[in-house]
Amino acid sequence: MQLEELKAEVGHILSNDSISIDARLTSVCEYLQNKVTYYDWVGFYFANHNTKTLHLRAFAGEPTDHVEIPFGKGICGQVAVSNNNFVVPDVNAQDNYISCSIDVKSEVVIPLFKNGVNLGQIDIDSHTVDAFDEEDERFLEWVNQQVAEIL
Ligand code: SME
Repeated sequence: MQLEELKAEVGHILSNDSISIDARLTSVCEYLQNKVTYYDWVGFYFANHNTKTLHLRAFAGEPTDHVEIPFGKGICGQVAVSNNNFVVPDVNAQDNYISCSIDVKSEVVIPLFKNGVNLGQIDIDSHTVDAFDEEDERFLEWVNQQVAEIL
């Protein structure tokens, strides 16, 4: 499956204003998790800049206990502070990592910006080691840009 081929349906889901934004985000998570074999968990966290915490807003895959993550903690919390993509080829090599499942081997977190503000992120876990490359980064940046348009 070429990631490029998923763009039309992602755009279609996000433009469906007959359902809530949360429902659209969940639908995007489910679509990506279904279509990309190595996307085993897909979620959107959004930041509360007052409390400096991230909050899980939509996801597909196994439910996680980590519905709230302080800025700076784990891969997600580090991206909330750094504003940079974080590709983790091997989660076991990370010190500042929050484990959701023993099955997860690699992870990618891409910040989501609107008007230059880091509002949150898309977080993807894979059961495959070193699953993510630059094509995933460019694609997920594009997904986040589309989400930013409807926020
Ligand atoms: N592994 C993440 C926590 C979120 S779960 O992957 C769903 C982290 O280290 O921030």
